Amino acid sequence: MALHAEVEKQQAPQSTPMDRLVDLLRPELAEVERLLAERAASPVATIPDLSAYLIAAGGKRLRPVLTLASARAVGGKGSDAVNKLATAVEFIHTATLLHDDVVDDSDLRRGKAAAKNVWGASASILVGDFLFARSFTLMTETRDLRILDILSRASCVIAEGEVRQLAALGKADLPISEYMAIVEAKTAALFEAAARAGAYTATNDDATADAMGEYGRRLGRAFQIVDDLLDYGGLTSVIGKSVGDDFREGKLTLPVIYAREAGNAEDRKFWDRAMGARDQHEGDLAHAIHLIRASGAAERTLDTARAESAAARAALARTGHGDFHDELAELADQTVTRAF
Ligand code: IPE
Ligand code: IPE
Ligand code: MG
Ligand code: MG
Repeated sequence: MALHAEVEKQQAPQSTPMDRLVDLLRPELAEVERLLAERAASPVATIPDLSAYLIAAGGKRLRPVLTLASARAVGGKGSDAVNKLATAVEFIHTATLLHDDVVDDSDLRRGKAAAKNVWGASASILVGDFLFARSFTLMTETRDLRILDILSRASCVIAEGEVRQLAALGKADLPISEYMAIVEAKTAALFEAAARAGAYTATNDDATADAMGEYGRRLGRAFQIVDDLLDYGGLTSVIGKSVGDDFREGKLTLPVIYAREAGNAEDRKFWDRAMGARDQHEGDLAHAIHLIRASGAAERTLDTARAESAAARAALARTGHGDFHDELAELADQTVTRAF
């Protein structure tokens, strides 16, 4: 091989497990995209306008990939039902993002101005409600009551998680168990539902669907924990969100809980002032990022995410060793090493 070709090969960016899953699921994902556009339609123009704005901005489509891959991993061959389910799952996610950016007063989503900054908070919430409702229409079209059961329960749990987090705002300290309960509800519940319901489109075996759900749940926990770390040092250009949103809002997340635990009295005074009382000054975010790194809290946060990712792999192994298993196992690793 010519030297320049060898060098090029070495420099070519490695494809990630997520890239490979997207590749393997290309026809199904194209159908999901078509359904997302088709089912966001409404004669009330703000609904398709606002929805298309957020949906076309991209997003990783991690949850629909999880649904489609979970079905294939337990023997599914692809179906209209699983495509509709994957679309419903992404609609639920999209609805929660619209609501979440109002609640968190976040200005940037998927690299663009948050919809609430373009159409206003009221329109964002109401269109979110529309997408939530639309997801249930899609689910009924699968004619599978198990799917409705799983996703309706998950929707309640997500809302509970968001309210629970709201109630924790402004607290000087948050027990790790409470942080985990919030993560479990606001994020892991949908990952779990996406995987479990996906499996049920292809198998009637409860143990297999439960194990796939456990994979999703653990993956979701790892994903949110890493997301919370990226809020203290990810790149806006990569994550498509502003860094420091959680800090500004006084939202206690695992990196801060660990840094506070490891800190001295002076550090704790800083966390209490900046996050508990939300009395923030120039340079405070940089100082917070410094404390999180220097105290070992960042590494400890990653260790916690790694443990979840390992648990995800273990659950996945209980579903057999067929197609898509390698990619899903590696996806669990990628969730911890991701910079996105
Ligand atoms: C954002 O989820 C909300 C969290 C659970 C952290 P994603 O990071 O999957 O968002 P998109 O869909 O790719 O924009
Ligand atoms: C996202 O929570 C979870 C839901 C949307 C339910 P966050 O508020 O932590 O996520 P980002 O950082 O805004 O994406
Ligand atoms: Mg948010
Ligand atoms: Mg939030």
